[in-house]
Formats: sequence, C-alpha cells, structure tokens
Amino acid sequence: MGCFMYSMNAQASPSGQPPPAGSDVYRDLMTYMAWMSDGIPTGERLPGALYPKVPKPEGGYDLERGRVVYQQNCALCHGSDGQGTRNGAGDVRFPPLWGPQSYNWGAGMARINTAASFIKANMPFGKPYSLSDQDAWDVAAYLNSHERPKDPRQTGTVAEAAEAFHAGEDSFYGKTLNGHLLGTGAELSPQ
Ligand code: HEC
Repeated sequence: MGCFMYSMNAQASPSGQPPPAGSDVYRDLMTYMAWMSDGIPTGERLPGALYPKVPKPEGGYDLERGRVVYQQNCALCHGSDGQGTRNGAGDVRFPPLWGPQSYNWGAGMARINTAASFIKANMPFGKPYSLSDQDAWDVAAYLNSHERPKDPRQTGTVAEAAEAFHAGEDSFYGKTLNGHLLGTGAELSPQ
C-alpha cells in the first residue's frame, strides 16, 4: 500500500487512492512474489538483492555538477526535462524523475541518500556501478531538487509536514530553491 501511495503516486490514479486494504490486488501481488521465489532459500541474501548504501561525500553535493551528470548520462532515456519517455501506445518506457507524473515527496526515492544508492547500483540502466559516489550524490540531489507531487501525508502546511515526516533527512522537502518552496506539489492539470 505504501508503494502505491508514495513511489507510484496513487493520487494520480483514477481513484486517487491505493487499492483498499483487503483488495485482490495485494493477494495477486503476493501470489506473484511467492511464485517467483519458488525454490529460493529463505533468510539468505541473494546476489543482486537490495543495494549497498553510498555514504555522503565529505564535501556534500552540488546541483550544478548534478545537472551536468544528468544531461550526459540520464537525459537520453529520462528526457532532458526529466519527464521520461513513453512508447507509441502511451505506456511508460522510461519513468519520469520529477514533475506531476513522477514518484511523490513521500517516496523513499525523494531522499537524496536513497536515490544516490539506488542510482549507483542501477543507473544508467545497463551500466551499474559506473558512476562515482560523488556523481551519484550530485545527480540524486539534482533530480530531487525539482518539484514533484505532494506528500500524501501533508494535511497542513509544507513546514508542518517537513517537521512531522521529513525531519533530519537528506532532502529538499520544505526548502526554498530559486524562490520556490519545494513540497507544494506538481499536480497534473485537469483534462
Ligand atoms: C538506457 C536508459 C536509461 C538511462 C540512460 C538511465 N535510466 Fe534511469 N531508468 C531506466 C529504466 C528502464 C528505469 C525503470 C527501471 C525499473 O522499473 O526497473 C529507470 C528508473 C530510474 C529511477 C527510478 C524511478 C522511480 O520512479 O522509481 C531513477 C531514480 C533513475 N532511473 C535515475 C537515473 C539516473 C540518475 C540516470 C543517469 C545517471 C539514469 N536513470 C539513466 C532507464 C534508464
């Protein structure tokens, strides 16, 4: 349910909600996962599972360097405007990384440290571990310095949600960048 809410930004789905508790969707997903793990030993870490944490570089990160890493290594698939690409049928081919169709502010990926580790181990797609730790942090910060859909837990102000849900994390949530308060949300315009 959390994945539907945050990573998949269920707010943008027709119902605006994750499938309700008890929905067949969860039973079917669990069945699929159980089927995929047939014959796999339980309680053992398999090669390729999860990804190592990439520590924050001593000098922190830099958005301008991140922009350059992005344009050189990521824009080809995710678009120079970060909006991803779709196939002829309109299905997502390469996911948007910011803006109204991306993961929202409540997703783990919106944290710079989480995105840096994911990126280092998985991106550019097909070239894992090709970026330096510094590049991974710079590009993760660059992605996550853009507006994206609201944190679904936000009921009051962004400042209140920053305090309640984002305290102490490496993220741009609730920070002002180029005169814009991040966290206010990028929503799809009504059709
Ligand atoms: C060759 C195409 C390609 C390139 C180049 C590429 N990506 Fe990706 N990216 C993908 C695909 C495909 C996925 C979806 C993977 C999946 O769902 O398993 C993805 C997923 C992601 C996600 C997860 C998005 C989400 O909603 O969870 C992030 C973040 C990301 N890429 C960042 C990057 C960054 C940063 C770079 C450059 C360093 C990069 N990608 C380069 C193809 C690419």
